[in-house]
Amino acid sequence: MTRTVRARTLEPPALEPIVLPRRSRTDDGGMKILITGAGGQIGTDLLPLLVARGDTVTVFDLSARPASCPSEVEWVRGDITYAAEVNTVVARARPHRILHLAAILSAAGEGVPHRAYRVNMDGTHNVLEAARLFEVEQVFFTSTIAAFGPGLAQPVGDDVPLRPTTMYGITKVAGELLGEYYERAFGIDFRGVRFPGLINAGIPGGGTSDYALFMYVDGMRKGRYESFCRPDSRIPFMYMPDAIRAMLELMDAPKEELRRSIYNIAAIHPTAQEIANAVKARLPEAQLTFVSDPRRQAILDSWPDALDDSNARRDWGWKHEYDLDAMSDDLIAKLRQLVGAPA
Ligand SMILES: NC(=O)c1ccc[n+]([C@@H]2O[C@H](COP(=O)([O-])OP(=O)(O)OC[C@H]3O[C@@H](n4cnc5c(N)ncnc54)[C@H](O)[C@@H]3O)[C@@H](O)[C@H]2O)c1
Repeated sequence: MTRTVRARTLEPPALEPIVLPRRSRTDDGGMKILITGAGGQIGTDLLPLLVARGDTVTVFDLSARPASCPSEVEWVRGDITYAAEVNTVVARARPHRILHLAAILSAAGEGVPHRAYRVNMDGTHNVLEAARLFEVEQVFFTSTIAAFGPGLAQPVGDDVPLRPTTMYGITKVAGELLGEYYERAFGIDFRGVRFPGLINAGIPGGGTSDYALFMYVDGMRKGRYESFCRPDSRIPFMYMPDAIRAMLELMDAPKEELRRSIYNIAAIHPTAQEIANAVKARLPEAQLTFVSDPRRQAILDSWPDALDDSNARRDWGWKHEYDLDAMSDDLIAKLRQLVGAPA
């Protein structure tokens, strides 16, 4: 007996014409912003600032609404890898801007590379497609130093060969290029930054730069931390208040002054030992040791020591405020409040 197998079409079903509901500015002139992945390290600190400046914020995240989320924020649970879910939330929220944070980060991504590919590649594509379909004005992308590979002259500028060695880095390079394509082909205002490793008074989300924050957090909570890298490991870092200010400044920068879409931004680039020294100067009892983990060490060694961010400084006036000492003082004070430790 012969069986007939119907060929599957690769074409998506034709879409009905979409009638878009009207979109208006909020009463006080703020923006409507949809943030994907705002349940993480960056989003947690960013949400209160967006609400404070009068933006109407909708979050789209796989995780449940955390207690820290301001009551003004609408929280929609969903999976960025499903286009229908992304389209639904964008159609309902009708944002002027999408700030696309949802991703699986470097160290976590190396554990689940297929998932990292789906979330970071399909997720970014779904966001850009929804932006095209529902006439979103701007998509803001958070790229990373992991977009770079080894062997580059230091400090590393914007326009160097991008040869990342991690799944995370590969998906971020692709996201940068995809966004630039959507800008050229469909007129979406696509812009973003390449962040260094970020440090804040929170829980990091599985990046390879996490050792820096854990020196402060576990140095205080447990009195000890064993970093998974060599003491001479050096990558760029930034304190979260600077990172968030960078996003807000670039989001609001006049388009005609931007000569590119993705910008390196830089602040500090201490070795792991220099970070340990800054922690010890403030928490003398903390025992900070180093045992290099070959997998994560290889990722760190493939990243830049330092970034050249002169394009960001020239085009939209980017300037960091926190050096290692200022960051350490502020962070230790915040962590003491969080864990209830005496000053
Ligand atoms: N934190 C850093 O040091 C750093 C450095 C460079 C770039 N970045 C970039 O900034 C962005 C935010 O980073 P972060 O540190 O806040 O990340 P995080 O890991 O702390 O948070 C990521 C968020 O994405 C959500 N998410 C994951 N998979 C999802 C899915 N399938 N659908 C919907 N939501 C999903 C998670 O629930 C989480 O809330 C990421 O794109 C990251 O690549 C971060």
